[in-house]
Amino acid sequence: MTPFKLLALSCAFIAALGGLPQASFARDGAIYRSMDLAHPEWARHGMVVSQEAYASKIGLQILQQGGNAVDAAVAVGFGLAVTLPRAGNLGGGGFMMVHMARENITVAIDYREMAPARAHRDMYLDEQGNADPRLSQFHGLSVGVPGTVMGLELALKEYGTMTLPQVMAPAIELAEQGFIVNPGLAGSLRGLKKRLAGWPSTREIFYKDNGENYRPGDRLVQADLAQSLRIIAAEGSKGFYHGPLAEKIAAAVVEAGGVMTIEDLANYTAVIREPVTGTYRGYDIASMPPPSSGGTHIIEILNIMEGYPVTELGHNSAATIHLMAEAMKRAYADRSKYLGDPDFVTVPTTALTDKSYAAHLRQTIDQNRATPSKSLSPGQPAPYESNETTHYSVVDKWGNVVSNTYTLNFSYGSGLVARGTGILLNNEMDDFSAKPGVPNGYGLIGGDSNAVAAGKRPLSSMSPTIVFKDGKPFLVTGSPGGSRIITSTLQVIMNVIDHGMNIAEATNSTRIHHQWFPDQLRIEKNLSPDTIQLLRDKGQNVVVRSSMGSTQSIMITPEGLYGASDPRLRGALVAGY
Ligand code: GLY
Repeated sequence: MTPFKLLALSCAFIAALGGLPQASFARDGAIYRSMDLAHPEWARHGMVVSQEAYASKIGLQILQQGGNAVDAAVAVGFGLAVTLPRAGNLGGGGFMMVHMARENITVAIDYREMAPARAHRDMYLDEQGNADPRLSQFHGLSVGVPGTVMGLELALKEYGTMTLPQVMAPAIELAEQGFIVNPGLAGSLRGLKKRLAGWPSTREIFYKDNGENYRPGDRLVQADLAQSLRIIAAEGSKGFYHGPLAEKIAAAVVEAGGVMTIEDLANYTAVIREPVTGTYRGYDIASMPPPSSGGTHIIEILNIMEGYPVTELGHNSAATIHLMAEAMKRAYADRSKYLGDPDFVTVPTTALTDKSYAAHLRQTIDQNRATPSKSLSPGQPAPYESNETTHYSVVDKWGNVVSNTYTLNFSYGSGLVARGTGILLNNEMDDFSAKPGVPNGYGLIGGDSNAVAAGKRPLSSMSPTIVFKDGKPFLVTGSPGGSRIITSTLQVIMNVIDHGMNIAEATNSTRIHHQWFPDQLRIEKNLSPDTIQLLRDKGQNVVVRSSMGSTQSIMITPEGLYGASDPRLRGALVAGY
């Protein structure tokens, strides 16, 4: 472990006290007050914000039992594997940022999936040499070696205070006794029935014996999953990566056409990495380094934006959105070329997050005219697809902080449950470049740096982030959303720092996204038509699409903790005490 010690800041931020329930800010000599368009939840001691209410309550219960933020985060991770099966998981992977207050260290735990030993560069190409997305998305070959169980165990061992049986007890109970299905779960199972019920082992768990759907208010019991959780609680990650569970997972993958072996599972490792760091207008940013692209490009985009008077240009004005889109385009073009697993390729993270590089990129931006993506670098347009991942944030009464994003990749991953385990398996291999230059399921183009190789981790956009002020955690945030994770997380940070929003306003505000290719400035539905016209006049190819991301954030102020769950997806909860 290489601890990253945060430097003390000399920033001009002063959280205003004096009875205001919302954050207000003194910056650059001017006072910005929250517009109070939305109110965050408040708590004094500890807080858990996640996409699913049972899981948030589990985290709160652990905090109230005296556990720290890591204990609670690990409990939430196992809890979401039961109650949010479309993204919470045992059969996927993710990233956890941890800040330990007393030691003043911030670390990044990488528990991203790894490619099986028999994976190779051309494994997703058909006879004509074309990438076949069916193989990389909905097939045994789409499954990477899961990292979640080892990642959560590692976090608990290094930074927690409780035992696995203690933190896993609530999840085991929910799997065993069942829990009440909410409209979000019922709707996603109904919507994806064709894909999920195609796997008999999945149909038997997530649909009723007579083939009917679970409806809101029904109870979903997951007996096999409860048994798997019991094994892990008793034996630790050994119980998952060795023995009967590993055998069942490898057998299910092979039966579905994949190449995973029990040796692949036995060889899996989670890694503690040094966070990628940067500054923005006097705040320190610590985020996820490669194999995530998230932290690197959040900092790259912030560095570009720092050169513009964003506060004066205004929130979601055409001028600001145009500049953000141009910055995003350039960062995603870099992503396609340079980013990959740092254990396999040299990623120029320092150069990409350097302020002088941002200054150079800024010089290529015309404030009045969009740069066509194809003139930045070659690429192919591609459609967007749906996606699922989930983020949660935890703060405890000692000031320890966890920012965790984990995933199965698509909703319910590959859709395949390893028979007899209740464990859904990811389709994370699609995050590799099946063929350099050809877009993946999120329309993202990758290069050789992200080509498939045995034992390699696929490039991710997951961006669990901690923002510091005066050396102390100030904002904990992150989001699902595939390629939109980076830009959703970025906008929460900018909304708070540039636009003085409280965390609920920063969460709820209309989002935009550009990922270089397709050359589209994607916006959520409620941007004003005259702003859209101004953007089109600048040459931006504006498309209005469904909402993006589902951030789960906590702002830490002298008067307590403010939390906000994203209203874009149902079922989330801020739980604090
Ligand atoms: N599977 C989405 C991501 O890792 O970015």
